[in-house]
Amino acid sequence: MRKIICKTYEEMSATAAYIVAEQVRTKPQSIIGFATGSTPVGTYKQLRSLYESGYVDFSGVTAFNLDEYYPIKHDNDQSYYYFMRDNLFSHINIKEENLNIPNGECSDPAKECTEYDRKMAAMGGTDLQILGIGNNGHIGFNEPADSLSLATYLVDLTEDTIEVNARFFEKIEDVPRQALTMGMGGVFSSKHILLLINGSKKAPIVKELFSGSITPQVPASLLNLHPNVTVIMDEEAASLL
Ligand code: GLP
Repeated sequence: MRKIICKTYEEMSATAAYIVAEQVRTKPQSIIGFATGSTPVGTYKQLRSLYESGYVDFSGVTAFNLDEYYPIKHDNDQSYYYFMRDNLFSHINIKEENLNIPNGECSDPAKECTEYDRKMAAMGGTDLQILGIGNNGHIGFNEPADSLSLATYLVDLTEDTIEVNARFFEKIEDVPRQALTMGMGGVFSSKHILLLINGSKKAPIVKELFSGSITPQVPASLLNLHPNVTVIMDEEAASLL
């Protein structure tokens, strides 16, 4: 995995935004895997600026998002459906029909997951997958476990993740207990994975990520097996390396 260590969160976000923009400039029909969470917010802000300045055109881009809470309504401001429009999609010229996010309102999660994988596979996987990482090493909502799923699936969130994500909700009881997440197969289908990590809270998991061992108890550690991963960190996240 290639490491890029930036001084600040802003520098990390700008670096990531340029990598995404170059991908789209090189291949206007790119398929991009988008992530949510607080980490990529700065990257999306920079991408909006690059779009506004005319540097990048998203009209040919197709998006496949990593995950979504389940169940959750689209108009819930904590849904990833809402988050992506609020932070990026409503501000750029990506086409509505090219947006794919696992549907938190679906009535048949198993069918939704199968269909999501089928559609993504039919398009050949993603060209670039943006990823964040949970404090416990999860990617998307692939939580630490004895075995990990290849396919997109309905996952029970760990107590740890529910507690960490409660900060975005009014009260912890409002955090959905489950989520639909792209599995490891979907993540690995990407030609290039861009993992973004910032802040001192993530320093211990960064240390594990680069410890030289892989385990499903740290799902992100499996990324060491992918041939093309770029990890962009700020100095705080990299402080224990
Ligand atoms: C969330 C998301 C992940 C994200 C992670 C880290 O639960 N499902 O895709 O990478 O947790 O979030 P943050 O960037 O806010 O630290």
